Amino acid sequence: MKPRVLVTRHVYPAAIAILQEDCTVDYHATHDVLAPDRLVRRLQHAQGVVCQLTDALTADVIAEAPQLKVIANIAVGYDNVDVPAATARGIVVTHTPGVLTEATADLTFALLLATARRLPEAERFLRGGRWQRWDVDLLCGADVHGRTLGIVGLGRIGQAVARRARGFGMPLLYSAPRPAPEAIERELQARHVPLDTLLQHSDFVTLHVPLRDDTRHLISVEQLCRMRRSAILVNTSRGPIVDEAALVAALEEGLLAGAGLDVFEHEPQVHPGLLALPNVVLLPHVGSATVPVRTRMCALAAGDCAAVLRGERPAHPVNPEVLG
Ligand code: GLV
Repeated sequence: MKPRVLVTRHVYPAAIAILQEDCTVDYHATHDVLAPDRLVRRLQHAQGVVCQLTDALTADVIAEAPQLKVIANIAVGYDNVDVPAATARGIVVTHTPGVLTEATADLTFALLLATARRLPEAERFLRGGRWQRWDVDLLCGADVHGRTLGIVGLGRIGQAVARRARGFGMPLLYSAPRPAPEAIERELQARHVPLDTLLQHSDFVTLHVPLRDDTRHLISVEQLCRMRRSAILVNTSRGPIVDEAALVAALEEGLLAGAGLDVFEHEPQVHPGLLALPNVVLLPHVGSATVPVRTRMCALAAGDCAAVLRGERPAHPVNPEVLG
């Protein structure tokens, strides 16, 4: 009998075609998120699940999926999956790194530029019919070229952002648990510094760390107080890396100049304080949202799910220890 795979929500069709080669696919092409009880019910007879960052594959959900062998998450981040609980059950967890690196770095840079140069505010101004004439001080923002960029986390996406920043003549600082290999530091001309030093000396701070217990609220009151009053914070990683209430207070008090945010602590809810501030640019978690990239992410997750169910090694396991 073919293994059964649950695809939790709407995906690009390439994923379904890949799965259908070897599996029976349980799929409704809906954008609705399955409530936990419905997710558990649909997982009852599934050997595989292709899920998204909106699906909480908690220890409780995993415990109620007796036949599950693989969880294929359509995202590079996998904080929505309780990996230790999956590992304890011998369930393979996979994710989709690599294919979204450049698109996410592009979006990070777009957000940095949009925030620094007040692009959404300027567009609202024009569309609102308020543009009367050219003024010397109309909608002036911050320089980007030549200003120091602090990159928190120099992994794949952090490095791709650094490459873009080199084109803007930006001196680069980065913080990470360990320095990057010398060849990468040399290529990027990036200096490894403690997070506090980075916060004190950067004009822009951009976050590229995964969400884990030790990175939750990595940027909170103390860190925001260390930033320059002229600095801009950019976050395209995960919302809970930043203590959102602390960020709102810091922005209101003028402890930093602005923020560009693609991710939020309680998505899809956005802190009302952020919505009220003119110096923040807010996007609905679209870091990797290009058609080719999202198509590749769907196909990659489906391919890895099918591979595990065929008894093969997936391309991107998160917990390779269960593969033996
Ligand atoms: C998106 O946020 C991802 O983790 O791929």
